[in-house]
Amino acid sequence: MGLSMRKVIKNIKQLVTPISHDFAAGDNVKKLQIYEDVNIVIEDGVITDITKKDVDCNDVIDASGKCVLPAFVDPHTHIPFIGSREDEFNKRIMGKTYMEIAKEGGGINSTVRAVRNATFDELYKAAKKDLELMIKHGVATIEMKSGYGLDLENELKQLRVIKKLQEEYPLDIKATFLGAHEIPPEYRGDKEKYVKIIIDEMLPIVKEEGLAEYVDIFCEKDVFELDDTRKILSAAKELGFKIRIHADEIYPLGGAGLAAEFEAVSAEHLVKISDENIEKMIDKGVVFNLLPGTTFFLMSDDYAPARKILEKGGIVALSTDLNPGSSYTHSLPLIMAIACLNMGMTMEEVINAVTINGAYSLELSNKTGSIHVGKQADLIVLNAPDYRYIVYNFGVNRVEKVLKNGVGIYNCF
Ligand code: NIG
Ligand code: FE
Repeated sequence: MGLSMRKVIKNIKQLVTPISHDFAAGDNVKKLQIYEDVNIVIEDGVITDITKKDVDCNDVIDASGKCVLPAFVDPHTHIPFIGSREDEFNKRIMGKTYMEIAKEGGGINSTVRAVRNATFDELYKAAKKDLELMIKHGVATIEMKSGYGLDLENELKQLRVIKKLQEEYPLDIKATFLGAHEIPPEYRGDKEKYVKIIIDEMLPIVKEEGLAEYVDIFCEKDVFELDDTRKILSAAKELGFKIRIHADEIYPLGGAGLAAEFEAVSAEHLVKISDENIEKMIDKGVVFNLLPGTTFFLMSDDYAPARKILEKGGIVALSTDLNPGSSYTHSLPLIMAIACLNMGMTMEEVINAVTINGAYSLELSNKTGSIHVGKQADLIVLNAPDYRYIVYNFGVNRVEKVLKNGVGIYNCF
């Protein structure tokens, strides 16, 4: 026997996992596998057994009366950012719209000013705080993106912050370049020029430095429209980037169709997606990454058509979209509650969405997102006997422990 590290989570009242090893859609997304009174054996960070037999081990977590789930995956956040926009939030409560505030110079561009003014260390510290809050709410795998720099120097600053987080934290962290998040103030009257800078200057350097695996675009009316999106996606694909797109969030522009055409890994938001583009995305296996926190926080009634997508067999993931403007929450459990209560998803569907389907959308479902022998021991212990408490006890964080590769990264007590 070598010096392998062994750990057991014992007496688990309820162990819940997606059935699927890769992604859950169709009949599988409605199901979960549930074990009662079992132990999980972990060796060198990997799940090696799920058993009812007593296991002898010195390193034990007692989960009597508790529920164990795969740790959550958040495949869409806007970490790193700095500063806050509670003033805009108040204006929105009093009736201004998100796009009106953006046109007055607020919105994304107010966070751009804050990020440009911040040093690398300030931005890193802010990002660390956000990441730690996410972990407390059960996340052990996450996507982060640039998009608040909007010039070469500051986009690189954001991506280097992500790189440092990848080096310092044991989490799986995936990086996305979102230089096309907004038209920066200095190019307001000359969007073409900015698109050219993204294509000719930013994309090649981001690629050369290996700072991002994905390229994303805020494809939206009055921001980057279909022709801009097409140009940027073609250039990104040519350089070997994979694609994720903010599509059809506010106006039904048809970005989801481009996501299918360019065989994006995922398309995000999709509030206004057309039936035709739902079919196209399903045909190409593009993940429907829904972000209902945005609809909720922007006080809109328009939710993405989750039921329709699920019934047609689409692969649905859910994310916080954590950002200071349109969805300021670090809580995937809250997003799960919104998805159930306002989009009509079942509790089983949301668990699949934030575990195996999130992992699939980050191309990591071979190693995380479900509790199967051979996968990383990325797990959470709930301070509750049943997985349904996560949504049922809305607004309360029931996550008590988070393990990444078998190592505790959060412990509530
Ligand atoms: O995903 N829609 C564009 N981007 C973000 C909002 C960013 C912001 O308001 O700062 C989103 O909702
Ligand atoms: Fe977003």
